[in-house]
Amino acid sequence: MRADASPFILSTVKVIANVNVMQSRARAWKRAGIKIGFVPTMGFLHAGHLSLVREARKRVGKTGVVVVSIYVNPTQFAPTEDLAKYPRDLKHDLKLLRKLGVDLVFTPGDAEMYPGKMENRYSTYVVEETLSRSMEGAARPTHFRGVTTVVAKLFNLVLPDVAVFGQKDFQQAAVIQRMVSDLNFPIRIIIAPTLRERDGLAMSSRNKYLAVEQRAQAVILFHALSAAKAAVKNKSFSAAQLKKDLKEFLTAAPLARLDYVEFFDPATLAPVAQVKRGTQMALAVYFGKTRLIDNATL
Ligand code: PAJ
Repeated sequence: MRADASPFILSTVKVIANVNVMQSRARAWKRAGIKIGFVPTMGFLHAGHLSLVREARKRVGKTGVVVVSIYVNPTQFAPTEDLAKYPRDLKHDLKLLRKLGVDLVFTPGDAEMYPGKMENRYSTYVVEETLSRSMEGAARPTHFRGVTTVVAKLFNLVLPDVAVFGQKDFQQAAVIQRMVSDLNFPIRIIIAPTLRERDGLAMSSRNKYLAVEQRAQAVILFHALSAAKAAVKNKSFSAAQLKKDLKEFLTAAPLARLDYVEFFDPATLAPVAQVKRGTQMALAVYFGKTRLIDNATL
């Protein structure tokens, strides 16, 4: 019996794992004049991801299609990072996406995306050379090369008109926007706001790694952003002074270890000496081995 013949089996969201099948599907939609909205993810979906999916639907309307990719991209993880233990739950992800009325979920495997990588038969990478240098790029030197490469590949497979990224990964969104502009991808990039837990902690798949005590203290990132925002409301401060103050502020969370904090121009990502209203602030903080990032426009 065919699985879809029984009225008691809930319809599932359509899933494609093969890159050629994905691209043919996208080309067929394009020929039919159907708008494609796209949300790339690494899965283990939370409400933040789902808000991007809703945004994509808003952009393409009922007559368009929304594609979500779920792929834990190995090239954006350094050998020392958490690739193998990155959380995965495809079944649950598919359930969430079906409820949201997503048209297609693209779940390629490594052999599809990077054939023969181990034997060095995969050899083309996309590298953004300005915006990707600081902050996350300095802390994780091969990270953005992996991100731009996989996103360029996904764009070529899904052929979206609109792609939605989260402000949660502010630098990533800026790097992708630059790539799209530099390489003339005919794609509109939308940056959607950061969804937060009740206490203010930015939603992230990595929050799952936090022990109870760490989780309780992790809200310090949000509090730091809020405090800085309040401070610069009517006054400006030197970045050096604010960095010092922030270190002091973080001692309230003894399990927190600061990786970096930066104050920069949101358009150019260039560091500023004087922090005022409108300056972008980003920080990365370790709790044990778990590294959390957050950012805000002050
Ligand atoms: P992932 O971490 O799964 O995030 C997928 C998208 O969800 C990104 O655009 C990210 O900024 C957004 N996102 C994460 N947390 C969010 C939150 N709390 N609120 C709103 N949006 C949020 O980012 C990646 O995957 C990968 O680098 C990817 C772009 C898929 C390339 O591999």
